Amino acid sequence: MPRCVSVDKNLAERAIKELNSMYLIDSDYSITRIDNKVIIPVKVNIDKIMLSFGEILVFECTPPTKKRRVSINIPSHDFLGEVVILRRNVLENRDPDELINSIKQVYPRVKAIWVKDETVDTYRKPVLRLLWGEEVKDIVVKEYGLTFRVKLGEVYYNPRLAEEHHRIANSIKPGEVIVDAFSGIGGFTLHIAFRAPCLIIANDINPVAYELLVENILLNRRRLKGSIIPLNNDVMELPSILRLGIAERVLANLPLESLKFSSIYDELMKPGGILHLYMLSSSIYDAKETILEVFESWILRECRLVLEYAPYMGIFRCDLVKP
Ligand SMILES: C[S@@+](CC[C@H](N)C(=O)[O-])C[C@H]1O[C@@H](n2cnc3c(N)ncnc32)[C@H](O)[C@@H]1O
Repeated sequence: MPRCVSVDKNLAERAIKELNSMYLIDSDYSITRIDNKVIIPVKVNIDKIMLSFGEILVFECTPPTKKRRVSINIPSHDFLGEVVILRRNVLENRDPDELINSIKQVYPRVKAIWVKDETVDTYRKPVLRLLWGEEVKDIVVKEYGLTFRVKLGEVYYNPRLAEEHHRIANSIKPGEVIVDAFSGIGGFTLHIAFRAPCLIIANDINPVAYELLVENILLNRRRLKGSIIPLNNDVMELPSILRLGIAERVLANLPLESLKFSSIYDELMKPGGILHLYMLSSSIYDAKETILEVFESWILRECRLVLEYAPYMGIFRCDLVKP
């Protein structure tokens, strides 16, 4: 049976400190308060403990058990709503059943555990394999209080971009016109519209991403200060749809191919406008070198690492100003 001491509430802080310094507090149980007394669980077999303010009696008790934080090692994963997504390589050195059990312990409400094998095609869709559970792919996630519906496997979505969405949104000035050239389901777009009264033209070639973008705009509409025009086009078509030189800012978040469309960004942007270009590179140095070759006369402000992509490969954001 657990054992405790009882001290007056005015002496509790001192008693806890002293008991702690002697490693006598039983951390399996919680300290509780009953009226003016504080009950402290202790790990001793003696009947009395001498503290600086006097002797205290040890007695048998029934303190509440502490909820233990589960510290189980699960390799790189994302927990989205009710699903866990693992990288393919995590199964290389883990027993799948043991891994599933660990995940279920850490996330007791998990409904599906997916393994992401790769990201494919123009739409940058993840190829997912069900490791355990129900085929849950239609999920709702939160990013900084904004709500996003995601259809896993049909669109690109990476929860690790949430901070970047937030960071870019914070740099927007009211009244700007922004073209989010590869908007996906609206990560950057919605964060920006939430922060600033501005106009965002959000475009994605994937029809499912476009549908979700529209749905996500509606889901968050009461919280948005900015206006959004959703489009479902190839970025190449934008100069023939939009007024040339319309944008103060262009977001080009298609890291594997963003450099291919440099002339399109140029056509869409005002002189002095800012381009946030996401690209794959092995280092900031290489990223800068490539940028300066492609955008010869543009002013490169900075490049920074946004996400790890693979060993020795990262996704960098380079910010450029159109001359
Ligand atoms: C990396 S994802 C964008 C992610 C999104 N910006 C976010 O923060 O979640 C790239 C997107 O570009 C779209 N895409 C690829 N090629 C395109 C093109 N030529 N024109 C327009 N969109 C394109 C894909 O469908 C995909 O949704």
